Amino acid sequence: MTDAQPLTQVKEGVFSSFILHPSSLIFMDIIHSVAALRERLQRVPNNVFVPTMGNLHDGHIQLINVAKPRAACTVVSIFVNRLQFGPREDFDRYPRTLEADCAKLKAAGVDVVFAPDEREIYPEPQTYVVEPSDLQHILDGAARPGHFRGVATVVLKLFNMVSPHSAIFGKKDYQQYIVLRDMVRQFALPIEIIPAETVRAPDGLALSSRNNYLAPEDRREAPRLHQVLARAHDEIMGGARDYQRIELHGMSELADRGWKPDYVTVRRQADLQPPQAGDREIVVLAAARLGATRLIDNIEVFIR
Ligand code: PAF
Repeated sequence: MTDAQPLTQVKEGVFSSFILHPSSLIFMDIIHSVAALRERLQRVPNNVFVPTMGNLHDGHIQLINVAKPRAACTVVSIFVNRLQFGPREDFDRYPRTLEADCAKLKAAGVDVVFAPDEREIYPEPQTYVVEPSDLQHILDGAARPGHFRGVATVVLKLFNMVSPHSAIFGKKDYQQYIVLRDMVRQFALPIEIIPAETVRAPDGLALSSRNNYLAPEDRREAPRLHQVLARAHDEIMGGARDYQRIELHGMSELADRGWKPDYVTVRRQADLQPPQAGDREIVVLAAARLGATRLIDNIEVFIR
């Protein structure tokens, strides 16, 4: 067992903590200011970045496991970004669990945690924003106007603060991954965007901080979203090409079980547009409300 020590402030804005490990001492800096972050990263400019909003679960640890072998220094940010939440969304009740998050990050071997407050990221109203392509208006963007603008804007700022050579994003937020991949390409940012596989509970439910909102009976029902996607995957692999029928079937199965589906849709992986004849790299995406909780998930299909 490791033995966690209390955090100690080693210089202004930089907190250092360590755990005793049988073979080594593992240090992790917890940094709150951009100035201290830049100073810390001057020492190890070879860094890989995992941006998060905290409330970490095994899906985030998977992102860190993908990150760690790629650089000398793994940086994780924890920041609940107001800009990407709509006025009636869960910004205020989004779980803030910094202490528990830091314990998990330390155990996962993270080197630097950047946990700024809002004034650090938005010292003045953010009047300059990243306006993603029309991709921001479809699927999740249609249900959450302004969401991808908020995501792209904060991620660009975080990239400028961390200056990583690579950044990891989970495929569970598939549209987010595509928007950010395109942003990096179009602005010629010297950052490689690396997608990481979705982590699932044993019953198939994709891990998400929002799963905590589910009432017990909804939690039992929630794996249906993945089941609907898995069936669509199998149908397409079995030769089905009537994508509209597959979509309607998925939507009606969810609605019959009390969900309020926003979409079940078959798209191309490359640009999330409807597939053309001959497209072989497909993704089936779904978003639906179960009780008060909106869940999203997707499954890639590689047609042979
Ligand atoms: O995926 C998330 O947790 C957030 O959208 C991100 C990328 C950290 C930006 O706030």
